[in-house]
Amino acid sequence: MTTRTDTLWEQFLSPIFSHLIDQEQLKQLKDSINWEQERDRLANSNLEYPNYYQSQNFHGISGGYLTPDAAVSYDPITQYFVPPNETWVREDAIKLVQGEPRRILDLGCGTGSTTVLLQEKFPNAQVIGLDLSPYMLIMAQRKAKGLPIQWCHGKAEDTGLQGESFDLVTASLLFHETPVTISKAILRESFRLLKGGGQFLLLDGNQNTLRFADWLTNIFEEPYIQEYAQENVETWLENAGFEATATHTIWGVHQANVGIKPLPVSSPATVREETNEDIPVNPAPA
Ligand SMILES: C[S@@+](CC[C@H](N)C(=O)[O-])C[C@H]1O[C@@H](n2cnc3c(N)ncnc32)[C@H](O)[C@@H]1O
Repeated sequence: MTTRTDTLWEQFLSPIFSHLIDQEQLKQLKDSINWEQERDRLANSNLEYPNYYQSQNFHGISGGYLTPDAAVSYDPITQYFVPPNETWVREDAIKLVQGEPRRILDLGCGTGSTTVLLQEKFPNAQVIGLDLSPYMLIMAQRKAKGLPIQWCHGKAEDTGLQGESFDLVTASLLFHETPVTISKAILRESFRLLKGGGQFLLLDGNQNTLRFADWLTNIFEEPYIQEYAQENVETWLENAGFEATATHTIWGVHQANVGIKPLPVSSPATVREETNEDIPVNPAPA
């Protein structure tokens, strides 16, 4: 693994994780993938990486998410950071989905852990997972095996996807890793992408808990987690135009936020009360 040696992560957590994680298995997985070929297959060559993303190391790995090391180590490490059980937490968030969405977009999908659960819960839905890291998408595609999920290399704040075309837009564990200005832009983009009546669903760390844990920023190399913790996602949702917003606490240390894009209001000129004159009359027999 290409890790920095001057960080708290490297000094304290790396020795712990080297016991918890099977390093040999990770190396075998990494060596079994032709990363350049797979990256070129999935990557959008016109995409420019934003500075806030490519300038940071996340979780002690130099180069952050734009590396095979980040992609292969993400799942084995994340299971320890989403207590009490990563799948339960993701499933609890998905329980908040209303109705049967037909088109779903998972922003910052990473290795696809939530994306796969969404496709399994809604097998008839067309599901797209979008991420800035082609390496994470490579792992996501392997994890999804035969599921018909589409993987898209792109920016959550400027997806280029058609507006008003999704019933559900989700983002799990994304907002604590983006600057607040970008998280707000992602909400505006989600609003644009949703159909009227469509739902936005976020899963992330509980802002009330994280507010008092600034040591996390240093130890886990989470450059934007404190600015996320100081704010309030529900207020951001309201400011982006969402209605019926709510914050749900999940297992104490996580939160899910939901919001609905209002249905368009027809102008009075175009609304006509149905009258008897509108009911087609059977032609009289000749
Ligand atoms: C902590 S991971 C979460 C991955 C996944 N959603 C999950 O629940 O495990 C954050 C992911 O967001 C991606 N990401 C960060 N900023 C992004 C952006 N602006 N647009 C799209 N993806 C982004 C990263 O590449 C990374 O895969």
